[in-house]
Amino acid sequence: MPHIAAYDDVKATRIKRELPRGEGWRTNFLTYPAGTDVTEEPMGFLVEGNHERVIRPHYHENDQFQVVVSGGGVLGKHKLAVHAVHFSRAYTPYGPINFGADGLAFLTLRARKDPGAQYISDSREKLAAVPSRAPWQVTEAPDFTRTGDATLRPFTQMKDERGLAGFSLSMAAGATVTLPDPSQTSGQHIIVTRGGLSYQGRDYNAVTVAFIKPHEGAWQVTAGAEGLEAIVLNYPRREVVAANDAVVAKAPGHRVWQCALCAFVYDEARGMPEEGVAAGTRWEEVPETWTCSDCSASKSDFQMRVVG
Ligand SMILES: [Fe+2]
Ligand SMILES: [Zn+2]
Repeated sequence: MPHIAAYDDVKATRIKRELPRGEGWRTNFLTYPAGTDVTEEPMGFLVEGNHERVIRPHYHENDQFQVVVSGGGVLGKHKLAVHAVHFSRAYTPYGPINFGADGLAFLTLRARKDPGAQYISDSREKLAAVPSRAPWQVTEAPDFTRTGDATLRPFTQMKDERGLAGFSLSMAAGATVTLPDPSQTSGQHIIVTRGGLSYQGRDYNAVTVAFIKPHEGAWQVTAGAEGLEAIVLNYPRREVVAANDAVVAKAPGHRVWQCALCAFVYDEARGMPEEGVAAGTRWEEVPETWTCSDCSASKSDFQMRVVG
C-alpha cells in the first residue's frame, strides 16, 4: 500500500525556515505518527525559497532525487527548469543552489531518513575519509509526450547497475497502467506533476508524492478525471559499486581532469563550450578563478586522471 499525500493534505505543515539569506519554507509530504522509528522510512518534502535564497554546496549520506515543481534556479552552473530531476548519489557534493528571479520550489526525495546537509565548507575532511564512495550526479528532464492512452517512457541518462531509473508517465483520463516493479530497487517515488491519480475513491492531484516499498510490488495506477502526468523514480539498491574509474580521454594529446569531491570531469578535448571554454583548452589555460560546474570546488581540487 503506497504512502501517498497531496499538497492539500499536508499544506498545514508548511513552516518558515530561519535562513542566513532570503526567505524559505519547508512542507513535509511524508509524515509519520509520533514515536515511529523513521530510520528506514522514506522522506519527501517541498523546499521553497524566494529569489534571494542560496543553499551552499553540500552532500548527503543517502541517494537523493530532487524534482523542480515551480520557478527556476541554478544548481552549480546548471539551469534548473520546471520538472527537471536531479539525482545525486550518497556522498556526492552539489551546489550552490541559487534561487531564480521568480523563486524556486523543489521536492527533496529519499528512500530513507537522512541526517541533513553536510556543507563542504565544514565537512571536506569527513567526505575525503568516506570509504568506497562513488560520487555521481545527473540532471534529466521528463518527456511527457504521449502515444495512445498511456506512455511510460524511461529516462535515458538517469540509470545505473544498481537499479536506479526514472520514467515519465503520461496518461489520459481514466487510463490504467502498471508501474515498474520496485522489488530490485530501494523503493519508488511517484510525483504527480499535472492532473491527478485516482486512488481509493479520490483523486490525488498535483502536487502529490507517493512512495512504494520494494516488497509492495508493482503498483497499478489509474489516472484521474483530468488525466495524469507523473515522474516515477526508482532508488538504486544500497550495495557498494566501483567508483567511476573509466575516465577515458577522447582524443590523443589531451588530458582529462576530475573533481576529487564530486567526480565532475573536464576533458581538454571537449572543453566547456557552455561556459565559454573552447574545445582543446589546456587545463592550465582554464582561469584560476574557475570553479567546478557541479559542486563549486576550486581548480586545485581537480586531479589528472588520464593522459590521452
Ligand atoms: Fe541537499
Ligand atoms: Zn566538483
